[in-house]
Amino acid sequence: MTAQQQQQAKEEISVMEEEEEEAGSLSSQYIISVKDLSKTYDGKIKAVDNVSFNVKEGEIFGFLGPNGAGKSTTINMLTTLIRPTSGSAVICGYDIYKHATEVRRSVGVVPQEYTADEDLTGLENILLCADLYGIPRSNSKAHAQELLKLVELEDAANRKVSTYSGGMRRRLELACGLINYPKLLFLDEPTLGLDVQTRAAVWNYIRMLKEEYHMTLFLTTHYMEEADSLCDRIAIIDHGHIVRIGTPDQLKASVGGDVIVVGVKESEPDISSEIANIRLVKDVKKRGNDYRIKAEMGEEVAPEIIDLIRSKGLHVTKISLTKPTLDEAYLEFTGKTLREEETSRMQMFSQRVTMMRARR
Ligand SMILES: Nc1ncnc2c1ncn2[C@@H]1O[C@H](COP(=O)(O)OP(=O)(O)O)[C@@H](O)[C@H]1O
Ligand SMILES: [Mg+2]
Repeated sequence: MTAQQQQQAKEEISVMEEEEEEAGSLSSQYIISVKDLSKTYDGKIKAVDNVSFNVKEGEIFGFLGPNGAGKSTTINMLTTLIRPTSGSAVICGYDIYKHATEVRRSVGVVPQEYTADEDLTGLENILLCADLYGIPRSNSKAHAQELLKLVELEDAANRKVSTYSGGMRRRLELACGLINYPKLLFLDEPTLGLDVQTRAAVWNYIRMLKEEYHMTLFLTTHYMEEADSLCDRIAIIDHGHIVRIGTPDQLKASVGGDVIVVGVKESEPDISSEIANIRLVKDVKKRGNDYRIKAEMGEEVAPEIIDLIRSKGLHVTKISLTKPTLDEAYLEFTGKTLREEETSRMQMFSQRVTMMRARR
């Protein structure tokens, strides 16, 4: 690594540290500001352990972590459903302890477990949610119809929820979460147990809420692809701790950058050291006629590499660019893969039991 590259790497790390430091102070300039929040259940189970972070207005912010990491507990504290053991949080400008009612009025929540009443219709369930918010029926009827349209349940509005599919139930929960026109919506595992197509549909609703309704979204997930494709920023949470916060690209980049492989027709001369001098290149290895190059922002670096090779009178025969995945970032920061956790059969079983109970 050249001195210039070392400097660059240092600067990047210090930007990330600054962002983390920023998360250490409580501020009402953010729509969510959390400082040293902890929850210990029964005096011994440390479910959430000193988490601090800020969420900007208009962001989709994700909590990514395995079962039992403390995601639901965090949401429950931020939405004032449970009381933290220690720490503080300001939501939409309101302190969660002093102004719990205002917090509840400002946010929408789509809980992890289904809460709809099976024996009521979709429409009746939404009206019931409106009643809980004290919205008069004269207003809530029209709004409920709008929401049913938004989540494409108009045709099923007058059917009992017991006849709904998993995807329809999720959409109904989403509609209930939107009943009070929230600025900020909390979604706890919004696609848990859904098939791939239904999951994609839910992602589209979430993106629409951000883009068309300028809503801020806080979601939890243990699906890597979900966090990667939806979130502007992600906090990786493990055993109640936030181990890293960043954009998906930052998290991936901190694993060590992209890998560019360039094939050159001529095996000599070896121009590794010249490639290594290109800005953002971190490492170069030559194997036969191929150069294997590690770099930050590979797509910007690749053309420079090709120009350099050509300027030496050499011929490029092939080029490939591979981006690190969020899986690798997760492994780097937690020491394990999320998939190992995901496929634990006991956990799948216990999740299913919870969902079945919730449906009853
Ligand atoms: N009401 C509760 N009483 C005791 N322990 C709980 C309670 N709720 C959650 N826990 C424990 O706290 C930890 C975090 O749980 P949770 O916040 O539900 O995680 P996640 O949503 O990430 O799966 C787990 O060890 C869980 O067993
Ligand atoms: Mg949970």
